[in-house]
Amino acid sequence: MEQTVTISPQIQRLKQRFGIIGNSPSLTSALERALQVAPIDLSVLIIGESGTGKEFFPNIIHENSARKHKKYIAVNCGAIPEGTIDSELFGHEKGAFTGAISSRKGYFEEANGGTIFLDEVAELPLTTQARLLRVLESGEYMRVGSSEVMKTDIRIVAATNKDMLAAIKEGKFREDLFYRLSTVQINIPPLRERGNDVLLLVRKFTTDFADRYRTPAVTLADSARQALLNYRWPGNVRQLKNIIEQIALFEAGNIIERDTVVKYLPDMGDGYKPAVIDKAQFDYTQERELLFKMLFQLQKELEKLKEEVASGVSGPSTHRELHLDVDDTGAVTAHHAPPTLDEGTVHDLQATDFELVDELIDTQHRHHHDEQKLNLEDIERETIKRALEHNGGRRKATAHELGISERTLYRKIKEYNLDDVEH
Ligand SMILES: Nc1ncnc2c1ncn2[C@@H]1O[C@H](COP(=O)(O)OP(=O)(O)O)[C@@H](O)[C@H]1O
Ligand SMILES: [Mg+2]
Repeated sequence: MEQTVTISPQIQRLKQRFGIIGNSPSLTSALERALQVAPIDLSVLIIGESGTGKEFFPNIIHENSARKHKKYIAVNCGAIPEGTIDSELFGHEKGAFTGAISSRKGYFEEANGGTIFLDEVAELPLTTQARLLRVLESGEYMRVGSSEVMKTDIRIVAATNKDMLAAIKEGKFREDLFYRLSTVQINIPPLRERGNDVLLLVRKFTTDFADRYRTPAVTLADSARQALLNYRWPGNVRQLKNIIEQIALFEAGNIIERDTVVKYLPDMGDGYKPAVIDKAQFDYTQERELLFKMLFQLQKELEKLKEEVASGVSGPSTHRELHLDVDDTGAVTAHHAPPTLDEGTVHDLQATDFELVDELIDTQHRHHHDEQKLNLEDIERETIKRALEHNGGRRKATAHELGISERTLYRKIKEYNLDDVEH
């Protein structure tokens, strides 16, 4: 267990400014270190597992340095194709390669006097590493396709979740560059080593998501808190945030026990599962997926409600229906209706009534099923129609937006008679 330490007002202000949650000594000392090195013009390497909050650090360093009024540029080295990264970083001359129809400034030129954050720095190709080493040592570089030496004054903050020494051993990362980049190292602790910070983060995220989705906040029972504290969090804060988002949506207003938490945790065992969620993709696909799940959840709740009404077992109902509001921008918000406290009627059922009741339920189910299908079809038709309108009837773009193949879109257009939708 970590010891508690007093946290200086300066660190408190920093946390507030950046929305950083947590009081564990390991996180606090990482923040202190960042503040200490910020004004000194040295390269800093941020090391920590995926999802630990590394991205706060280059920002903190830039804002607390003499460069704060100059540019800050963040570059995700893992996301830029190998063929274009040199040109992105150092710029290129017109005609330097096929498609280079004009010359272009690179980030090192653009951010001159400021800070560049090289995220996932271990992913840099070896050729780029050579250029980077040169610019770090002498401030000199050349645009791609040019032999003119240019000068720049840049501070580099880099981050990685890789074992850099292993990368060096495997010949994937230059040792000289590694030492140049890691003049100062800051280690960001994994969430599993931050003790009760988990609970502070849960509190923050449950409130945030309840606000965002306009749903009543969940309450966590002790057993649930314990489960969250014991979990390994291979994807760290990013994973915790994602799981709380799901719980906030699908368990809105509920008291959460351990069992429920366990349902949302991918792996309670010891197996290390790296977080595989790509951030850019995550936001869009996840959100849509959540929306669809929400719709199905709504259908399920309705079905359950109807079943209970049909079988006459509903006492004072504690159910609260989930309502979806769609505004004219197509944004959907979900909220729960206030609890309905209808008294319900007590039936004196006789054994002979059961057959009749069963039959009734059966018929209702069949109706309900048709109704449900109709609703989903309506939603689908409407979704496709809007996407077509949105894309001026262009099918390729529409299919892309919806995440379906053009063939499927074609079929759906026929099925729903959407042939003439253009704008
Ligand atoms: N201590 C923290 N307090 C609040 N949010 C955090 C904290 N650490 C991380 N996050 C959030 O978790 C997500 C992942 O953080 P990020 O900096 O992208 O992780 P990394 O770059 O280390 O993979 C982001 O949404 C970030 O805002
Ligand atoms: Mg990151």
